[in-house]
Amino acid sequence: MRAEAQPIIDRESLHALGLVAPNSFAHAFANTVAGRTIVLVTHGTDPLHHCDRIGPIVAATTCAASLARFAPRLMVNIGTCGGFRSRGGAIGDLHVPQRFAFHDQRVPIPGFREFARGMFEAPNADALRAELGAVGGLCSSGGSLDATPQDRAILDELEARCKDMEAAAIALTARDARVPLLALKCVTDLVDHPEAVQDAFLRNLRSATLRLATSTSALLRSNNLPW
Ligand code: ADE
Repeated sequence: MRAEAQPIIDRESLHALGLVAPNSFAHAFANTVAGRTIVLVTHGTDPLHHCDRIGPIVAATTCAASLARFAPRLMVNIGTCGGFRSRGGAIGDLHVPQRFAFHDQRVPIPGFREFARGMFEAPNADALRAELGAVGGLCSSGGSLDATPQDRAILDELEARCKDMEAAAIALTARDARVPLLALKCVTDLVDHPEAVQDAFLRNLRSATLRLATSTSALLRSNNLPW
């Protein structure tokens, strides 16, 4: 979401490069930080509904267009997520997941079951995680902000530490392109809390985006990036 990107654009004085590709809605911003060229990509605004373009489908198409245009050495998916109080999570926690899967893709046929679930390993980021004060574990992605009882059962089976709407789709796309992917996520809401997810999400969005921006600045200057 642009709200997640703007504090990073401001902190790092990123300049607009325009659209990622002529037929894309995604916008790119760039600068050199600590000797590295960095490009931040937002998914853009939907032309019909005039809201941010979110979710796994847009995440994969934006990722593919960004890989084709910028050929990065490393991708980092930055954004908010839901956490799990049953697994020690709290609002404002920072996550650098160790692996990514999908909790809402279910195909009960051997082979397809595993393909649909996905299971994508992030490169080793133990030192970076310690430097940033982030937790690891599995991030599970799906197309919905809320979670049905069946989603919840699968999230528990996966022992997910965070839930988002993009990371696993980007992980699949980056894996296919053989580009390593890290994710940096900050918790806005707790999946296993009775409050409606959208209420907690909207209340905590600003503080989470500010934590993401300061953590992104630290990540960009880190000597612990996996490359
Ligand atoms: N982003 C922030 N909170 C989320 C949640 N609970 N599920 C999916 N994406 C999120």
